[in-house]
Amino acid sequence: MINNSKLDLGPLHDFYELGHAEANFLPAVIEGLSLPQKQLSSKYFYDQKGSDLFEQITRLPEYYPTRTEISLLKAHAKEFAELIGPGASLIEFGSGSSNKVRIILDALQEPSAYLPIDISKDYLIESAKDLARSYPDLIVIPISADYTRPLTLPVLPSELVRVGFFPGSTIGNFSRDEAIKFLRTASIYLGAGNGLLIGVDLKKDTDMLFAAYDDAAGVTARFNLNILSHINRELGADLDLEGFKHEVRWEADKGSIEMHLVSKYDQKVSINGHIFQFVAGESIHTEDSHKYTIETFQSLAEEAGWRSLSHWTDSEDLFSVHYLQVI
Ligand code: TRP
Repeated sequence: MINNSKLDLGPLHDFYELGHAEANFLPAVIEGLSLPQKQLSSKYFYDQKGSDLFEQITRLPEYYPTRTEISLLKAHAKEFAELIGPGASLIEFGSGSSNKVRIILDALQEPSAYLPIDISKDYLIESAKDLARSYPDLIVIPISADYTRPLTLPVLPSELVRVGFFPGSTIGNFSRDEAIKFLRTASIYLGAGNGLLIGVDLKKDTDMLFAAYDDAAGVTARFNLNILSHINRELGADLDLEGFKHEVRWEADKGSIEMHLVSKYDQKVSINGHIFQFVAGESIHTEDSHKYTIETFQSLAEEAGWRSLSHWTDSEDLFSVHYLQVI
């Protein structure tokens, strides 16, 4: 655990850097690009530029999840506050801009602390400072970490209840096994009896899905390609962004939207002295976005040690929010 005292914390109470989010970047890239179906983990989308582009995605007309989830959070905030109770500390996994949590904080009775966890360190600190300025009585402690790896979170003396917040259907970016592993780990961080408020995208018409992940303005394409710039910058590689194109596929068996970067021609790339060959049309699989039904998500949660206390959906059944409790 590194407590970065050199940082200007401004209105923040503390800052934790748990491990180095990019410590395994090079081995992970080499391993992923050595597979028969080349792949890269979607967590590497989120450098500063990737976090900014993702924020733009959330505002696209075709990207229904963010606005639908925000309406659900606003419509039911009082019910969440009742389920959560007074004096809670909120832990957000993958906090990004920390915008959605404001809806919850505004409804909660005397929340004690907010611990946003994110892999994108500078973005995390700026978002946490903004939030801390808006909530001067709240203890705000950003944690720069890869939350898919084991963490030891700070325990605050004042906290009565610990509640996890995991919006954005980020759970859908995990495979079923990874999702169960994440939910099991989260149940340990949060502890018996505590809750998790989680947003889960629902199965729907594929036209709507294709539009949401391949927008007309090309923002999602730029976001997908940015993973290559991130590799070039951090790992001394020579990937040509013009040599790949963004492609979206619907995998009906998996119930998942897949994002790929397809090589436009035969090419060789070099990453830190490692050479990888691409034939024309060969792809790197960069992301999965699984779509659930209420029932398939609830059974996944149960398998991971959580009980669903309540769930909410919009009138078109596009998106769902669930309140789970550790069994
Ligand atoms: N959790 C978001 C989702 O699956 C992440 C996301 C949205 C995303 N758009 C994307 C990831 C485009 C990669 C590319 O909807």
